[in-house]
Amino acid sequence: MTQQPYPGSEFPSIPGEPLNLEPIEKALLKMCYGVHVVGSVNSAGERNLMIADWVMQVSFKPRLVAASIENDARTLRFVRETGAFTVNLLHERDGDEIARKVVMPAEGKKIKGRSAEASAAVTDKLAGLEHWLTPEGAPVLVEALGWYSCTVEHYLETGDHTIVVGRVTDGDVTRSGDILTEKELGWEYAG
Ligand SMILES: Cc1cc2nc3c(=O)[nH]c(=O)nc-3n(C[C@H](O)[C@H](O)[C@H](O)COP(=O)(O)O)c2cc1C
Repeated sequence: MTQQPYPGSEFPSIPGEPLNLEPIEKALLKMCYGVHVVGSVNSAGERNLMIADWVMQVSFKPRLVAASIENDARTLRFVRETGAFTVNLLHERDGDEIARKVVMPAEGKKIKGRSAEASAAVTDKLAGLEHWLTPEGAPVLVEALGWYSCTVEHYLETGDHTIVVGRVTDGDVTRSGDILTEKELGWEYAG
């Protein structure tokens, strides 16, 4: 039997997504997110970037933010090694270009169904993206709207993600404008 979309559903916005989203998914997908790029560094000085919607401020004094990161992300391994990360806020005007460059996992093995050779490959997502490094070595993207750096205060394993709570140590807004939102980008990470 052909599955029908729920009445009133304007999804999918991603080609190939099923039309018949559960009501719970629909509700969760209505939440608003800015598009961030988490920058990380490991103890060997290797660096990585990943897109993350699930980043929010969680305390004023001290200034703390929480980022929820997939348990199998290279980023989480790097952050656990050095306790440092950056959050780059993508610009509404051209942040989609950066998003496209960093959307795939660095490690081919994170993508199911790849050949042994492709699984072994590791992509340098910083290649071609102008950046500088914080004193802890985490990357800040020059073309971002703004950024802040964090040192980790807590980890909370939570389902298939780990919430990383970081103390904000520095930050700035380096271009005029606003943050790119997930809605403008047309991608989704919820449900
Ligand atoms: C729009 C969008 C938002 C995302 N938000 C998150 C997020 O908040 N947390 C997360 O762990 N992964 C998120 N992801 C998935 C990661 O970016 C993805 O798994 C990434 O490849 C992991 O990178 P790494 O393994 O190189 O660290 C998101 C993906 C997209 C497309």
